[in-house]
Amino acid sequence: MTAESSSNRVVLLRGAQKPAAPVAVQAVSVPSAPLPADKVEWLCEAVARNRFLPAPPAEKVFIGDGDFRAIGAEFLRHFITLGGLAPGESVLEIGCGIGRMAVPLTQYLTSGTYAGMDIVADGIDWCREAITPAYPNFRFEHLDLANPLYNPAGALNGGAVTLPFEFESFDFILLTSVITHLRTAEVVRYAAEMARVLRPGGRVFMSLFLMDNAARAGLAAGNGRYGFDPAARGPEYLGDPEVPNAAVAYDQRFLLDIFATQGLVPARPILHGHWSGRDGGGANFQDILVLHREAGE
Ligand SMILES: C[S@@+](CC[C@H](N)C(=O)[O-])C[C@H]1O[C@@H](n2cnc3c(N)ncnc32)[C@H](O)[C@@H]1O
Repeated sequence: MTAESSSNRVVLLRGAQKPAAPVAVQAVSVPSAPLPADKVEWLCEAVARNRFLPAPPAEKVFIGDGDFRAIGAEFLRHFITLGGLAPGESVLEIGCGIGRMAVPLTQYLTSGTYAGMDIVADGIDWCREAITPAYPNFRFEHLDLANPLYNPAGALNGGAVTLPFEFESFDFILLTSVITHLRTAEVVRYAAEMARVLRPGGRVFMSLFLMDNAARAGLAAGNGRYGFDPAARGPEYLGDPEVPNAAVAYDQRFLLDIFATQGLVPARPILHGHWSGRDGGGANFQDILVLHREAGE
């Protein structure tokens, strides 16, 4: 199953469910400073070249195409240089898939901790078997949330999820290409949950599709990817209404407001990617948004 696969099964999402029992996270870490730039380059190149790092067999990879190790190494660079991630921090990855981001992070979070969660049991099983034994500071949780594309038979409603983690237990949360598969109610719920489990001053790193006027202009000129209709009302835009979870974009202002309501505000200017064919879209395909939780919220 990939983000591009076409499943249009209708799933009846159930109502609010009992929260899962909290998982104690060993998060008492002392954040250290991020690496200097030359060392970041060296590290990311070494990660991209290292054939001995764990990698799932191709037939198990359900998270999309591309070079598993190279994409992971590229995002490790972004987590450090754009998100300010330090090696001693406690990290939560929501929608960790089959460890594409976790594997490179094993080479960086030397004194930190990592918790990954996903709704696809196979991906979590692989991560537990291939990563945790060598890196015991990395742990993985499966949550049986329904998603018509990734987990159609899931028992729980993502719009009512309580993450199995304690209040203020993380310094850094990442979601790469996850919001791009979630509907509005799920995003609203995750915003509240992220604010709950993030420490004041902590950051959220996301890659996603943000619709603003420049993105609309690129799409209207026919330069974009997927079938997003720039003239649609929003604030949620579906790349393919037949397969709603395949590609979801959000009105930028709407999404920033949802996060701001939870005390999560931009930590740096948004880096717009080239998915929409906008003028000046950068090297990344998706947009990159880094938020931080305001102290005192
Ligand atoms: C395109 S994949 C990206 C995986 C991973 N973040 C990466 O970049 O390698 C999208 C991921 O989102 C996960 N996902 C879908 N709905 C989710 C939800 N409600 N909560 C958490 N993860 C979800 C999928 O199972 C899948 O692993």
